[in-house]
This record gives sequence, structure tokens and C-alpha cells, in this order.
Amino acid sequence: MPNRVAVVTGSNKGIGLEVVKALCRRFDGDVYLTSRDVERGQQALHKLQQEQLKPLYHQLDITDRESIGKLRTFMTQKYGGIDVLINNAGIAFKMADTTPFKTQAEVTIATNFYGTKDVSTELLPIIKPQGRVVNVSSVASSMALQKCSQELQKKFRSSTITEEELVELMKKFVEDAKQGVHSEQGWPSSAYGVSKIGVTVLSRIHARKLTKERPGDGILLNACCPGWVKTDMAGPNAPGTAEEGAVTPVYLALLPAGAEAPHGEFVSNKTVQEW
Ligand SMILES: NC(=O)c1ccc[n+]([C@@H]2O[C@H](COP(=O)([O-])OP(=O)(O)OC[C@H]3O[C@@H](n4cnc5c(N)ncnc54)[C@H](OP(=O)(O)O)[C@@H]3O)[C@@H](O)[C@H]2O)c1
Repeated sequence: MPNRVAVVTGSNKGIGLEVVKALCRRFDGDVYLTSRDVERGQQALHKLQQEQLKPLYHQLDITDRESIGKLRTFMTQKYGGIDVLINNAGIAFKMADTTPFKTQAEVTIATNFYGTKDVSTELLPIIKPQGRVVNVSSVASSMALQKCSQELQKKFRSSTITEEELVELMKKFVEDAKQGVHSEQGWPSSAYGVSKIGVTVLSRIHARKLTKERPGDGILLNACCPGWVKTDMAGPNAPGTAEEGAVTPVYLALLPAGAEAPHGEFVSNKTVQEW
């Protein structure tokens, strides 16, 4: 029997790194720290080794399909699949950033939404029975949802929306932002918020699909908010620590074998939130 294995995306720093640390201590199997930049990944790996932790390493850029494909091949050959996948990698422009909104929209959706979607397309088929998938979204997604037009809110809350329909909506946001008409088209003014709506809704869609297509496999897939915590992304004024930010993702990653819930939920503070 191959070892059990957990993979954390974007884990060379911040919340992802803390998730790797916690899994090294608590997960019964191999834990992969991954990073888009090999050098940064190796430095993080070295840091954890000095703390007597023993994560393994694989390169992964979530915006590069070839990189995702290589990880899939490696995990399939070495472990016969993946037991725990934490889609943590993400980006956010700083409030003070003067990059035009249309560019922020395109770049943020490309990483946070399409990156997470492409990783899921490749890796969900190799998640093993009793596997756990955690998509790190944000409360920014619920806040952005509330600022959408009633029509958009209805679509994003729908329990029958398909992945194709969601992709069309994300595409429309970027197009509307490019034409400077996103506000009149009912979108909020946060590209990050909309990208995380994409992650939360994608999680609901994927959970439904797993229930339908692999009913006996007991896989649990959820989106979560890690809380507002000090990292390079959130800055030094955030109230929590990155270690605290790892608590909810790790709780969802380690839901015990045989558990049937939560599944397809948006979870914050280890508690299911209304979407
Ligand atoms: N911190 C908070 O308060 C907070 C709140 C809500 C949600 N979140 C979410 O939590 C997750 C982690 O955020 P964080 O605060 O830990 O941010 P962070 O410190 O900026 O870390 C983000 C990580 O994602 C990686 N990444 C970015 N683009 C990538 C790509 N294309 N491929 C692979 N990795 C990539 C970064 O790698 P590089 O080092 O190469 O840039 C880094 O390792 C994100 O999804 C974020 O949206 C954070």
C-alpha cells in the first residue's frame, strides 16, 4: 500500500506554510509543500526541516497547466492518487495598488478562479475514496456576493448552476471590467471578492458533482475562510496569526474517516456559514 498523501498549493509562505506544518504534525502520511518558484519552495522546506518537520516538495504553479499535469502524473505514479488536497494558492492586489481595475480583474480571476479550477479539473479525478478537498476562499466572497445585483446573487446562490455557467459569469466580469461597465452590470468593485465568489461557487458545484458521480466514495469537499490573519497578503494589521489561519483548513482536511458532513459548504471558524 502506498503512503497516504496530502498536497497544499501555494505553501512556501503564509497560511499554506502553516497548513503544511500542522499536517506534518497531525496527518498520517506524506505532506507535500508546493510552490510556483522552486527556490522559494526549497527555502521554506529547509526552514521546516530545521523545526524537525519532514514535508516533501513538488513544484506547482496553479496557472500553468503543464505544471499541474506533472504533479498529477507524479501523484498517480507514486501514491495512486491524492488523499488530501488544499487549494490555498491565491493573490490579491493591495488596496493602494494603482494597477487599472480591468487588469486587476483579469489577473486576479486568472489565478484565484481559473487556477483553482484547472487544479481541480486535473486533480479531483485522482482524489482517493475518503479524500478531503479544501478550497481556501474568503469571507470576501460573501461580502462581494451581497454587493452583486439581485440577478447575479440568484445565479451564484443557485443549487443547479453548472461549472460552464460559472465560467461564463467570471468571463463576463472580466469583460465588463475591461469595458468599464462592471458597476452598471451589477458587479461589486472588488476583483478579489468576485474571484473568491468563483472559488466558493466552484466548490459547491464540485461537491454536488462528487456526490452524484462517486456516491460511495465518501469524499468531502468544502470551501472555507481562514480568517483575517497576518501574512504578506493581508499585511501586519490583520488581527490573527498565520498559524490561526490554518485552523479551519486543517480541520476540514482532517475530517475523520466516515464523516458525512460538512460537504459542499462554506466554512469559517470551523462553522458552516450561510451562502
Ligand atoms: N491572510 C488572510 O487574512 C486571508 C483571508 C482570507 C483568505 N485568504 C486566502 O488564503 C490563501 C493564502 O493567503 P495568504 O494570506 O497566506 O497569502 P500569501 O502569504 O500571499 O501566500 C500566498 C501563497 O500563494 C502562492 N501563489 C500565488 N500565486 C500562485 C500560483 N500561480 N501558483 C502557485 N502558488 C501561487 C504564493 O506564492 P509566491 O510566494 O510565489 O507568491 C504564496 O505561497 C489565499 O487563497 C488567500 O486569498 C487569506
